[in-house]
Amino acid sequence: MTQPLRPTDPIVVNVALGSRAYDIVIGRGLLASLGARIAALRPGAATLIVTDENVARHHLKAAQASLCAANIRTGEIVLVPGEQAKSWRILESLCEGILAARIERGDLVIALGGGVVGDLAGFAAAVSRRGLDYVQVPTTLLGQVDSSVGGKTAINSSHGKNLIGAFHQPVLVIADTALLDTLPPREFRAGYAELAKYGLLGDAAFFAWLEANWRELFAGGAAREHAIAVSCRAKAAIVARDERETGDRALLNLGHTFGHAFEAACGFSDRLLHGEAIALGMALAFEFSTRRSLLPKAEADRVTAHLAAVGLPTQIKDIVGGVPTVETLMNLVAQDKKVKRGKLTFILARGIGAAFVVLDVDAAEVESFLAEKLAKR
Ligand SMILES: NC(=O)c1ccc[n+]([C@@H]2O[C@H](COP(=O)([O-])OP(=O)(O)OC[C@H]3O[C@@H](n4cnc5c(N)ncnc54)[C@H](O)[C@@H]3O)[C@@H](O)[C@H]2O)c1
Ligand SMILES: [Zn+2]
Repeated sequence: MTQPLRPTDPIVVNVALGSRAYDIVIGRGLLASLGARIAALRPGAATLIVTDENVARHHLKAAQASLCAANIRTGEIVLVPGEQAKSWRILESLCEGILAARIERGDLVIALGGGVVGDLAGFAAAVSRRGLDYVQVPTTLLGQVDSSVGGKTAINSSHGKNLIGAFHQPVLVIADTALLDTLPPREFRAGYAELAKYGLLGDAAFFAWLEANWRELFAGGAAREHAIAVSCRAKAAIVARDERETGDRALLNLGHTFGHAFEAACGFSDRLLHGEAIALGMALAFEFSTRRSLLPKAEADRVTAHLAAVGLPTQIKDIVGGVPTVETLMNLVAQDKKVKRGKLTFILARGIGAAFVVLDVDAAEVESFLAEKLAKR
């Protein structure tokens, strides 16, 4: 882990993917430099901003002004906010919109928004004109530490979330931490779960640093840029090793098998946001690991205590509006990670910062663990 830099210095994290390598630039107030950075990267390129109504209200003007000041042609497509936008219908209108805006090879689509806008705009860029380049300007904490990095783009299917998509890396990511000042606190907390995940899965020192500094991060001090940079470096390193998730990248799924089951059981509604489900899922993954005697209970308790301290759910009883049955959860777990002869793949931990992939967890063991948890609430 590195020491925090001076707050005025943008931090640059490179995603080392050979000819598809790109920079993630992190800093407060960076949106103002969007135009200049794009002009330097791609002189003469035209752009199209894809955003949603909430983000547009707060930040579209500033993005346009920056592009305009750099003499860059731009337009905008403003989507209705929310996960429902990740659909064939919206994808179609987005692709048509990109073509209508005369965005050609060499031009750039700019995804200005959270993970929904990033996933949609990235996928639309991947398939329009057989592949246009795009820039991510993530405006949620989840976007800045997770969805804007790594090139996964997708829409949802009736068969499940993110099942139709492509790997398509952006050419630049600009993470302006000031944009998070307008994010609803609950969304910020949900993104924090994914940020804490990097400490929990591979960096104990970072987790300890978060325990000491999370308040400053939430308040918008320099701790925020530092934590986002550490997270991006962690994800970039994993993605560089395993771009297409054939091995190591699966570590990023810590907390996601349990988390997705609860998220799906709540109908992907605002009863449980994705990051909240992941907080609960990570707490359960650590607890499950203690049951397998992989780590001392005190260590799992530390995980739960920290996530709870920032206001994230860590217990099944924290879920608003009723709890699913074991059968429902097991069906969802099975769908998420395809059971192979009664065996499930899980990310477990030998301690904070020491997660690993287990390919052969017995479904019956997971079921009895969940039954116990449900009975206790
Ligand atoms: N591609 C990946 O690797 C990856 C990784 C994780 C998640 N995802 C996807 O990301 C999506 C979730 O992303 P998210 O949590 O960013 O949700 P989101 O994009 O829906 O944003 C959350 C809410 O905050 C609003 N918002 C965004 N930025 C704002 C700002 N600065 N100020 C005020 N309001 C703002 C949005 O309009 C929305 O209402 C899911 O669809 C998930 O599948 C993708
Ligand atoms: Zn996630």
